[in-house]
Amino acid sequence: MAILVTGGAGYIGSHTCIELLNAGHEIIVVDNFYNSKPDVLKRIRKITQRDFISKEIDIQDKDELEKVFIDHSIEAVIHFAGLKAVGESVQNPLRYYETNVNGTLVLCNLMAKYDVKRMVFSSSATVYGNPDQVPITEDSPLRATNPYGWSKLMVEQILTDLAASDKEWSISSLRYFNPIGAHASGEIGEDPQGIPNNLMPFITQVAIGKMNQLKVFGGNYDTSDGTGVRDYIHVVDLAQGHLRALEKIQKISGFHAYNLGTGKGYSVLEIKEAFEEAAGMKIPYSIVERRPGDIAVCYADPAKAKEELNWEAAKGIKEMCADAWRWQRKSFKG
Ligand code: NAD
Ligand code: WQD
Repeated sequence: MAILVTGGAGYIGSHTCIELLNAGHEIIVVDNFYNSKPDVLKRIRKITQRDFISKEIDIQDKDELEKVFIDHSIEAVIHFAGLKAVGESVQNPLRYYETNVNGTLVLCNLMAKYDVKRMVFSSSATVYGNPDQVPITEDSPLRATNPYGWSKLMVEQILTDLAASDKEWSISSLRYFNPIGAHASGEIGEDPQGIPNNLMPFITQVAIGKMNQLKVFGGNYDTSDGTGVRDYIHVVDLAQGHLRALEKIQKISGFHAYNLGTGKGYSVLEIKEAFEEAAGMKIPYSIVERRPGDIAVCYADPAKAKEELNWEAAKGIKEMCADAWRWQRKSFKG
């Protein structure tokens, strides 16, 4: 019996594949390489010394995806495949709804048809929008401020209704906070195309000389130093959370959402300083206008994941920065 991993060549998916293989799971990776490269799969094999089946398939291609269900015995699905750039989702909402919502519908229909009713879904802290209070618990109000966020909320609603309709379904929706860092080998990590949207890849690209300076979006938020505060979580900790969720869905039914964060918030300037210490260099920066749609503070209450999944983040900000930097240097050299 294998775990089907959609989007397994991507940033979080690739790290999760390593943890799955190291834990002895058989996996099948499906990815259309829209935002990743096939080479990542070779690297996963190299790191783990384990082989696995991988297929270049768009999850919206029902016929191709169905072949995977026909040809293999699948026990559960970890569903990462999707589009994740907030700004792009505002420019091209249909594409986001098609991939994230319709792609999930195609997948769920096949899962129902082939009686595979266990899923771990990649949700996001974005489903809390601008939170009323921090730390954010799972029962906080859900809201979205952009099509990407709506697509995650819509999928959570679909999965909630699906689980309510048939007790055999067991679905964990993992609401990730801000994943950063990379595998300690430096072989895999986040590989954004073009100008990075997110803070850590931008910092590492300034450090390597690809970008001139960090633009800090807003210096007048109501935070300790005026810059935005987020809950940054090491991607390997996040990957391990998927294994705990996988164990959980074997035991219970229904739809359950979990925050995967550390419970600690760091400001943009604190992250810049932690990176400077890890890399032993200064990161030039300037404070510019706020980025539209950004919120001041966002961090998790991760107690539910600790209690119900027996999971908590172990890696601190120093390790996140050191690992992000090792990956950046290694990948820049090729
Ligand atoms: P990523 O872009 O690195 O990985 C997504 C993978 O899905 C890529 O390999 C991409 O090629 C693949 N993919 C995209 N569309 C596909 C399709 N139609 N068919 C098959 N494969 C397809 O992103 P990531 O950071 O690894 O994110 C994984 C998941 O986690 C996404 O669903 C994302 O929305 C969610 N998430 C990410 C973050 C984050 O900050 N990285 C935070 C919260 C939630
Ligand atoms: C972090 C902080 C910025 C870049 C996004 C998505 C969210 C989730 C994770 C998927 C903020 C500041 C950033 C830069 C900066 N993804 N910043 N200069 O916005 O918390 O979350 O990724 O689900 O949905 O919205 O992450 O890394 O973009 O920003 O000052 O060049 O860094 O303003 O305070 P964000 P981020």
